Amino acid sequence: MSGPAMKNGSEICRDGFFESEEEELQGQAEAWKSTFAFAESLAVKCVVLLGIPDMIAREGPRATLSLNEIAARLPADSPDTSCLFRIMRFLVAKGVFRASVVKSAEAGAFETRYGLTPASKWFVKERELSMVPMLLMQNDERTVAPWHHFNECVVDGGIAFERANGAEIWSYASDHPDFNHLFNDAMACNARIVMKALLSKFQGFQSLNSLVDVGGGTGTAVAEIVRAYPFIKGINYDLPHVVATARRLPGVEHVGGDMFETVPSGDAIFMKWIMHDWSDEDCIKILKNCRKAIPDTGKVIIVDVVLDANQGDDIVKKKKKALDPNLGIVFDLVMVAHSSGGKERTEKEWKTILLEGGFGRYNIIDIPALQSVIEAFPR
Ligand SMILES: C[S@@+](CC[C@H](N)C(=O)[O-])C[C@H]1O[C@@H](n2cnc3c(N)ncnc32)[C@H](O)[C@@H]1O
Repeated sequence: MSGPAMKNGSEICRDGFFESEEEELQGQAEAWKSTFAFAESLAVKCVVLLGIPDMIAREGPRATLSLNEIAARLPADSPDTSCLFRIMRFLVAKGVFRASVVKSAEAGAFETRYGLTPASKWFVKERELSMVPMLLMQNDERTVAPWHHFNECVVDGGIAFERANGAEIWSYASDHPDFNHLFNDAMACNARIVMKALLSKFQGFQSLNSLVDVGGGTGTAVAEIVRAYPFIKGINYDLPHVVATARRLPGVEHVGGDMFETVPSGDAIFMKWIMHDWSDEDCIKILKNCRKAIPDTGKVIIVDVVLDANQGDDIVKKKKKALDPNLGIVFDLVMVAHSSGGKERTEKEWKTILLEGGFGRYNIIDIPALQSVIEAFPR
């Protein structure tokens, strides 16, 4: 017998692989989406490099620009407006820009004008809270390259970043100043966003006289804490090649060193986006060094993803939900790509490493951000 079989009135594949024609087509649409998932991030990277969100934002948050007005602002004598049109059309379809067709005042003809959407408002690099440095770092050729090695990591193990770039990420950054800047700027951009959310919800800095930010990058997070609590002496502790590039920040001392060897002393330790970079064994080593650096009455304040976090008040829950609910597991894959054994953790996994690291008691405080706060105490 040949020809398609019928089920519920629609044709289905003869081998019954798909349940229905509808399912087959729906599946094909999803498969195309997966095939070209990179198109959106790279098209966004293009308009960010061209500075298009900034051009529109400079005219006002609700302003619009025509293609010719955008082209006239590009640093090019004869930009390819046809190519630009195609990129903008795609990004309008993706909701990154909005488009409206209006009658042009000068020519009297209809023209398309482009405006910002809530998404592209985050891609304005001239604003203090911007996701541009993160977008550029995550879409740099060297940070995307490790993703191409996942299959080898599954089969043979190893570190994806090292397979792609010949060294693990921190020593690569130490040897490549441009990558070091790219990475540190991306961290600082996230620190600005997260610290705003954190300081609005977390009160745990009140009783401190000193605070050490372990793996603090160029010091953005601890500077924000000290700005909010000027009586705290802030120490920003990171690898020497990172603190060497940090600018002077009021109330913050930069200290270079290796957290696997020692951690400077303070009333409390702050660690944002550190533990997720490391395996359980490495986290326990870091936590033990933190324990040595604080008094019995001290604490560590960890800012990281808790995969199953579902605490906080209703507003926090709503705000957290508004972020992609899969973002935590996306970041877990970012850890496969960029870290040497790191992962995102559930509360149960956090509890295990905290206990082993010398912190028997903890609270999780949810904040309106991807990460949560874990405040852990030695006793
Ligand atoms: C993911 S970044 C987080 C930076 C910062 N805490 C933030 O969230 O913006 C991890 C940081 O850990 C630092 N780091 C890596 N290995 C380290 C070590 N052995 N000792 C101290 N810092 C280290 C890196 O240089 C980097 O700045």
